Amino acid sequence: MNQTFAKDLIEGLSSKNKHLSSKYFYDDTGSKIFQEIMEMPEYYLTSSEFEILSLQAKQIIDAVNFNQPFNIVELGAGDGMKTFKLLEYLVNHNIDFYYVPIDISQGAMNSLVDKLKAKLPTLNIHPRVGDYFEVLSKENVQTTIPSLLLFLGSNIGNYGNDEAVKLLSLFNKNMKDGDKLLLGVDLQKNPITIKNAYDDPYGITKRFNLNLLTRINDEFEGDFRLDDFDFYCHYNPENGEVNSYLISLRKQSVFLKKLNQEFHFNYDELIWTELSKKYNLNEINQLAQTTNFTVEQHFLDCKHYFTNIILKK
Ligand code: AVI
Repeated sequence: MNQTFAKDLIEGLSSKNKHLSSKYFYDDTGSKIFQEIMEMPEYYLTSSEFEILSLQAKQIIDAVNFNQPFNIVELGAGDGMKTFKLLEYLVNHNIDFYYVPIDISQGAMNSLVDKLKAKLPTLNIHPRVGDYFEVLSKENVQTTIPSLLLFLGSNIGNYGNDEAVKLLSLFNKNMKDGDKLLLGVDLQKNPITIKNAYDDPYGITKRFNLNLLTRINDEFEGDFRLDDFDFYCHYNPENGEVNSYLISLRKQSVFLKKLNQEFHFNYDELIWTELSKKYNLNEINQLAQTTNFTVEQHFLDCKHYFTNIILKK
């Protein structure tokens, strides 16, 4: 049994304002559903970042400006192939580098490695499966050569401010002087555009959230009935936060056999499942400054929906 998950579950489902962490969305099924989300036209984040990394690959690599072989360490690589265009540019220009993708899902990693090996057979790839906090602090991905860390897809948006500061500080601590971080951040924009990306008409994001209950049923012998829960999300343009919830559609109890524990839900009670924060440029600069990074350059898509920023330690 995953002890951290068990502890977080008990804490989250017993508190006054129930909550579950979105980091538990990504079992193999959840990672597949996230792929479906990334393919929806409404989920503009993927296409915006793809545009930046494909059309501005040369400018990004020139700005990174490592004049020797280097590592590209991708935190939370998934199997979305977000990075493909950047890797393709480097391979096609015979630039010497090692690609180290890190992801929590073995399934997603297998699929990423298979696709990359087929498309870029000469790519030097060293995959790591695990939580990136653990891999970063345990494994020695640092060598004598410089590293470019990639934290893409606006994953930073899934952390509250304090957690985001902790995470970027941890990255900073694990970097050598001169190493760089390419950070993908979703920007504040027309609230309707943002709302449509999360409150999707196909019910895929709802399925993504409900899969968390399926995962709990599977891993803890739970008896969550999915039909008794619904999904709700809300974008607040005043603070840039999308917050997502599961709603209990009736007063009910759920028993998790492996924890020998029962949890009670009131009619219409919410479980907060996710924060997806949208930033403005000032907030990004502030976050970089607090975590001892220097902002080198922003790369935006043509609609200015998204930015990939080079941060230097
Ligand atoms: C992974 N992360 C940046 C996604 C996001 O946009 O917050 C996860 C997601 N949740 C709902 N749709 C996508």
